[in-house]
Amino acid sequence: MDGVTGLTFVILAAGEGKRMRSRHPKVLHRLCGRPLLGYPLRIARALADRIVLVVGRDADGVRRAAGAGVEFVEQTERLGTGHALLQARAVCGNGPIVVLPGDSPLLSEATLTRLIQHHAKTGAAATLLTATVERPAGYGRVLRQRGRVQGIVEDRDATDDQKKIREINTSVYCLDPRPLWPALAKVGASNEQGEYYLTDVIAILAKAGARVEAVTTADPAEALGVNDRKQLAALAALQRHRILDRLMTEGVTIVDPATTYVDDTVSIGPDTVLHPNVTLEGETVLGAECVVGAGSQIAASRLGDRVTVKPYCVLTEAVVEDGATLGPFCHLRPASHVGPKAKIGNFVELKKSRIGRGAKVPHLSYVGDAIVGEDVNIGAGTITCNYDGVDKHRTVIGNAAFIGTNSSLVAPLTIGEGAYVGAGSVITKDVPPGALAVGRAPQVVKEGWAQRRKATRKKD
Ligand code: UD1
Ligand code: CA
Repeated sequence: MDGVTGLTFVILAAGEGKRMRSRHPKVLHRLCGRPLLGYPLRIARALADRIVLVVGRDADGVRRAAGAGVEFVEQTERLGTGHALLQARAVCGNGPIVVLPGDSPLLSEATLTRLIQHHAKTGAAATLLTATVERPAGYGRVLRQRGRVQGIVEDRDATDDQKKIREINTSVYCLDPRPLWPALAKVGASNEQGEYYLTDVIAILAKAGARVEAVTTADPAEALGVNDRKQLAALAALQRHRILDRLMTEGVTIVDPATTYVDDTVSIGPDTVLHPNVTLEGETVLGAECVVGAGSQIAASRLGDRVTVKPYCVLTEAVVEDGATLGPFCHLRPASHVGPKAKIGNFVELKKSRIGRGAKVPHLSYVGDAIVGEDVNIGAGTITCNYDGVDKHRTVIGNAAFIGTNSSLVAPLTIGEGAYVGAGSVITKDVPPGALAVGRAPQVVKEGWAQRRKATRKKD
C-alpha cells in the first residue's frame, strides 16, 4: 500500500461458529456467492504484503477455500480471538499488522485504507475501527474517556450503563507489533466466556500510556458481523443491494431490485435488462444488451451479447453465444454450448451438447451428448437416445440437416450434412449426407373401413 510497507494482514478464521449450529465452519458459509472468508481475503489481496490466515475448525476445508498466496497458522484450541492472533506471532514481521475477522463481509477496502493511513500518520500503537450503530447488542462496546479510547468491553461482560454505548468494536485493528506482543501476553481469561480476548489488548496498551487511536466507519453496516443465520440473511440482503446498485451504475437495467438476486461474482455488460425474480449465480458473465426474462436462474454460465433469455429458463455451466434466443422454459445443463443466433425453445433440455450457429431446437426436445451443426433444424419432440443403461453415446448432426418432429435418434449416430429424417422416425443407423431416412411403420389406409365397421356393429 502507498507509503506503508511490510503490511501483514491476519484474518481470524478458526472459530467454532457455534451460533450457526452448522456442520460447516462459519467462514465457509456463503453470502451472495462467496464464502464469508472470501470477503476479507479480497481486501487483503488488494492491500497486504503478506496474508496470514488463522485456521482451526475444519482447517483443511478453510485452507482449500482460501486459495493461493496465503500463509496458514493453526489454532488447535479455540481459546478466543487474542489466543488466535497469538498463533500468528512467528510469521508476522516488524511492519504493521492488520487484524480482520473472518465473519464481517461488508467491510470495504476504502475504509481499511483509511484505517491503515490514520495508523501510519499518528504512529499509534493500536488503531481500531469502530462504528456507531442503532442496535449495538452483541458487540463489544468502545469505552472512551475525554474522547480517548480506554478499552473495549464485551457485551456479555458489560454493565447496564456500558450496554447503552452505541459505538462498537468492529474487530478490525491496525497494530504496531512491538507493543502488541508483550501486551497480548498479559491478556487473561477472567471473563464470562473464559476466553483470551483480543479486545483486552486495547485497555492494556491504553493503561501503559501507549497511543490508541480509533477510526469510525462512514457506513455503520460495514461493521456488521455474521454470528448466526439470521445475521447471514440480513447481511446478504444488504450486500445484494450493493451489488444491484453497482450494476445499475454500470448501465444494467434492473426492473425490480427487490426480487433480483445477483451474486458478487457475476459481471454484466451495459444495456442488459434483468426482469423480476431473476437469479444469477457463481462466475456468471452476461454480455451487453441481453434480456433475462422473469424467473430465470443462471449459474456459472457465460452469455455473449444480445442474448435473449425468455422467462423461466434454468442454465448451469452453459455457454451461449451472441444473438442466441432461449426459452421460455428451457433447461441448459452443464457443458451446453449454444452457438451464435441459435434458438433453443420451450421445454427443451440440453446436456453436454454443442448447437451450431443459427441452428434451431424450438420445442419439446432432449439433446444430450450431441454435436449439432450450423443451421440444423430439430423438430418438436426430438430425443437423442444417448444412454443404453450403461454408457452414454454421442450423436453428431451435420450442417443444415433437418430432423422431423418426434424422432428418436439412437446414439451412437451420425447424420450427414443436409440429410433429412422423416417425422416420427426411430433412427438407429448412420444417415449419409443429403439422404432421407425414414424409420417408422409405413402408413396403411383402408378405404371405407369406418362405414363397414358401423354396419357390422350390433346396436344395443
Ligand atoms: C468479536 C469481538 C467484539 C466485536 C465483534 C465484531 C472479541 C473478544 N470480541 O466478537 O468486540 O464487537 O467481534 O464482530 O474479540 N476466532 C478465532 N479463534 C477463536 C475465536 C474466534 O479464530 O478462538 C475468529 C472467528 O472465527 C471470527 C472472529 O475470530 O472470525 C471473531 O470471533 P467471534 O466469536 O465471532 O467474535 P464476536 O463474539 O463476534
Ligand atoms: Ca463475530
